[in-house]
Amino acid sequence: MNLREYIREVQNFPKEGISYKDITPLLQDPKAMEFAVDLFIQKLDNQHIDVVVGIESRGFFFAALLAQKLNAGFVPVRKKGKLPAETLEENYDLEYGIDILEIHQDAISKGQNVLVHDDVLATGGTARAACNLVERLGGKVVQCNFLIELGFLNGRNKISGFPVESLIQY
Ligand code: PRP
Ligand code: MG
Repeated sequence: MNLREYIREVQNFPKEGISYKDITPLLQDPKAMEFAVDLFIQKLDNQHIDVVVGIESRGFFFAALLAQKLNAGFVPVRKKGKLPAETLEENYDLEYGIDILEIHQDAISKGQNVLVHDDVLATGGTARAACNLVERLGGKVVQCNFLIELGFLNGRNKISGFPVESLIQY
């Protein structure tokens, strides 16, 4: 199965010059979803995972499936103001300005093995902020995985301290 065939490229969305990678055709196809989950699991190479961190919002879809498959907990990293209990925060750069991601302070315990998942690795700022949150709670980032990697943006450099896997590269 070629997963790339399930990604719809939408030109000039959300603005002029951007080729948006739309994962909804993949989400609509249960066989393709299953195939992607199995590939992610293979790339973990039997490493033990206690917690899967999914990054709001498009990271949630697969992170929860992976957590179930790995018999691990699922932990959401959310944009500021969405998590109700005590949180840690990390800033990250946007094209214009900054944004803030949060995690619940009790979501990860010291020494736990963590898989960080998001749909797309672009500049890497989002993933880096999520990894920082995990480490501040004492978790070990075993791997960061992504459905899609935009290689030309060199996001890997920003998370070079962690093993990175992606299923589809542009
Ligand atoms: C997109 C994408 C990744 C992030 C990648 O999310 O889903 O999370 O950008 O960008 P980066 O590597 O340059 O940091 P977005 O912030 O658009 O929000 P969404 O997932 O809620 O749609
Ligand atoms: Mg996102």
